[in-house]
Amino acid sequence: MWPVPGRDSKPGIRGKPEMLESIRRDSLRRLRAEFHLRLGNAYHVLGHRSRSAAEYTMALTLHDDLLQAHLALARLRMPGSNYLVWLERLHAAILPATYLEVGTYRGKSLSYARPPTRAIGVDPEAAINVSFQAETHVFRETSDVFFAERRLVPFLDGQPLALAFIDGLHVFHTVTQRLHECRGSVWSAFGRPDP
Ligand SMILES: C[S@@+](CC[C@H](N)C(=O)[O-])C[C@H]1O[C@@H](n2cnc3c(N)ncnc32)[C@H](O)[C@@H]1O
Repeated sequence: MWPVPGRDSKPGIRGKPEMLESIRRDSLRRLRAEFHLRLGNAYHVLGHRSRSAAEYTMALTLHDDLLQAHLALARLRMPGSNYLVWLERLHAAILPATYLEVGTYRGKSLSYARPPTRAIGVDPEAAINVSFQAETHVFRETSDVFFAERRLVPFLDGQPLALAFIDGLHVFHTVTQRLHECRGSVWSAFGRPDP
């Protein structure tokens, strides 16, 4: 007698070959993505920018979350000094009265603030391993909590926020939300009523 699906097949066994096949296909795609990433790196070293970009793009077509391919493409499209160099230049040029950094990690970027700047870092996983030149306060919590608790208000003491760097959770919605909140701090310091 033939097995009747739903009556004779065990729930744990049903669908397993499809699952294995899907895992196999996914692993192959990732391997192919890695291959194109490395090819992109090789073209880059040889100075073939457009071929290199094409390989990185192909890698991302196969695996759209491949961080190294995103970074490599970004470096190709926006060559020059990296964000830390720019941040240090900005601090030196502006000497902002206040500085907020969302996403602090070990404190490298936060450490570029220098007196008379007063700085705040926000990161639930902050593990500072540098020393700070400026007066610096680190809040070990998410920026959602930080803004919900309105911690900027006493820090700013009625002044606008002078400089902010948003480098926490790199998700579109969260970053735009933080931008909105930072702008809110600037506006509210100038007395604009809340909408
Ligand atoms: C790219 S690292 C920051 C690096 C740092 N700005 C630097 O350049 O030295 C990102 C950090 O964001 C933190 N992070 C993740 N989600 C966050 C959130 N909701 N609020 C604040 N920080 C967050 C992570 O814990 C991580 O340490």
